[in-house]
Amino acid sequence: MRDKILHLLNSSDFVSGEKLAENLNVSRTSIWKQIKILKELGYKIESVKNKGYKLISRPSTPIVEEVTFRLDTKIIGKEVHYFKSLPSTNVFGKKLIKDGSPEGTVVIADVQTSGRGRKHRRWLSPEGGLWFSVILYPHIPPHYGMLVTMVSSVSIVQGINNVTGISPIIKWPNDLLLNGKKVCGILTELDAEIDRINYTIVGIGINVNNSIDEKLQKTAISLIQKSKYKISRVELLRSILKCMDENYRKFISGNFGDIRKLWFSYSNVVGKWIRVRGENTVIEGIVTDIDESGCLILDTMDGITRIVSGDVEYL
Ligand code: BTN
Repeated sequence: MRDKILHLLNSSDFVSGEKLAENLNVSRTSIWKQIKILKELGYKIESVKNKGYKLISRPSTPIVEEVTFRLDTKIIGKEVHYFKSLPSTNVFGKKLIKDGSPEGTVVIADVQTSGRGRKHRRWLSPEGGLWFSVILYPHIPPHYGMLVTMVSSVSIVQGINNVTGISPIIKWPNDLLLNGKKVCGILTELDAEIDRINYTIVGIGINVNNSIDEKLQKTAISLIQKSKYKISRVELLRSILKCMDENYRKFISGNFGDIRKLWFSYSNVVGKWIRVRGENTVIEGIVTDIDESGCLILDTMDGITRIVSGDVEYL
């Protein structure tokens, strides 16, 4: 009902309560109640006696109504959940998977109280950032799981660029950098059998308008530090979801080639001397390629090595 009211308010100047009620086949009191809720959600709506209601501005908070408004995607964002606060959108996403949520479901939280990073690290998620997860069920073997992160990172770069003109650089395996500092992290978790993935949940954390914790200022950055103006998180999220929808559909239809090319053009890792820290290993070498499953190919003193995961340091 709120969606319909917004649609009617969006398409004209003042709309009378009577006309809204008539169109939606409800009483004027229920229209008044819904307008009140919309105002509480952050919509600026002018009410003038004998004229009706006029939509002045929409909120920039990624509430469901705004994220889904004419989103026009085929898979991603068909179901959207928004929370002011959650422990972690990835953890909540796993509950939704158990309850049978469809592919492309998105979970957003304004604040995360137990945000999670890779390797069980903490991920600070204060107000002003964009913290969300996307549920996917790709029919691929588990060792191709890394490609889902690659599809996501390409989509995030495109989404950020479309809205702000800023172009972060992809740092293998799951970071986006701006001025050499981390602006976005991706936590892709999956549940799999030996030959197939049951589900993938892609958790995306972007420092947008939030301030960076003092201890992290040397290594992390927010988009606002570069843009110098406040970025609409809802516009940014919608842009990322649209790019992700297009790229993911290409990926599942077997066309990874285009995405791979884009990934290379947004990343600067090939040709770099790097050090990779794994669980119990430290390896140095020059990156010569990324293979078809998204692993780093490293030319080291001991020959060519394939790196599946680790923390990369540029030397
Ligand atoms: C990393 O760089 O280690 C990955 C960070 C991923 C953070 C995002 S924020 C949304 C989602 N929910 C979480 O708890 N983590 C991911």
